[in-house]
Amino acid sequence: MSSTPSDSPSQRVPAASEHLHVAVLGAGRVGTAVARSLLDAGYRVSLSASGDPAQLALMAEIVTPGAEPKWTRDAVADADLVILAVPLHRLQHVDPALLEGRIVVDAMNYWPPVDGEIPAFAAGTRGSSVVVQEMFPGAVVVKSFNHTGYSSLEPDRRPAGHPERLGLAVAGDHPEAVALVSAVVEKIGYDPVPVASLSATAFLQPGGDAFGARLTGAQLEALSGVPAPVA
Ligand SMILES: NC(=O)c1ccc[n+]([C@@H]2O[C@H](COP(=O)([O-])OP(=O)(O)OC[C@H]3O[C@@H](n4cnc5c(N)ncnc54)[C@H](OP(=O)(O)O)[C@@H]3O)[C@@H](O)[C@H]2O)c1
Repeated sequence: MSSTPSDSPSQRVPAASEHLHVAVLGAGRVGTAVARSLLDAGYRVSLSASGDPAQLALMAEIVTPGAEPKWTRDAVADADLVILAVPLHRLQHVDPALLEGRIVVDAMNYWPPVDGEIPAFAAGTRGSSVVVQEMFPGAVVVKSFNHTGYSSLEPDRRPAGHPERLGLAVAGDHPEAVALVSAVVEKIGYDPVPVASLSATAFLQPGGDAFGARLTGAQLEALSGVPAPVA
């Protein structure tokens, strides 16, 4: 994939199907909640932490049964989709070359009490996912999962059409990647709310109106103020 994320990677965007293999990088609160949701929706899931998967195996067996613990490199190797769920201050340890040509979901937030002061994120003017995209220029970054609490993600899942079904934003500069992630979000149990640009995601970040709010798709869309991309 070229280094310009808006270039079309259409031949590399896999079809949205239940046969997708998703690599979740980060086996903490968010990573395990996302992994369980994916597994329950029928996806194949690999899970990695910062080190040896042997140390992850017992935890994964109990906390995310069905997920395959792997080295990050191996998890990503044949994944159709990669989810980044590591603390932002640890992201510098993820090799950009590994994510070359991948669709990468940024589920992370800049959280100074945990992350410390990171100038690129602290500037706060462009949206943290724009910075993440710059850190991984060969990937297509899509922002999702970040605005809901890890403990709400699973209990709030509902089937399509359910009156209590909530929305989950899916933001990105590449409509096909947004469409793929939206299909996954839909299957997990949320109404995907596409947002046309990574740079228009301040409302999803800490301090933004949608952050931590339990909103329907329509409510979330009203907050976005950005027309949805056409996939
Ligand atoms: N907490 C929430 O409700 C919430 C909601 C949405 C988004 N977020 C955001 O999601 C991100 C993760 O938060 P969290 O609460 O899940 O963190 P966490 O519980 O501290 O877990 C972090 C995980 O990332 C792993 N990790 C660290 N460096 C890594 C690397 N280089 N490669 C692969 N894995 C690595 C850690 O593995 P080791 O143990 O081996 O270091 C650990 O499994 C943060 O940016 C956070 O702001 C949090």
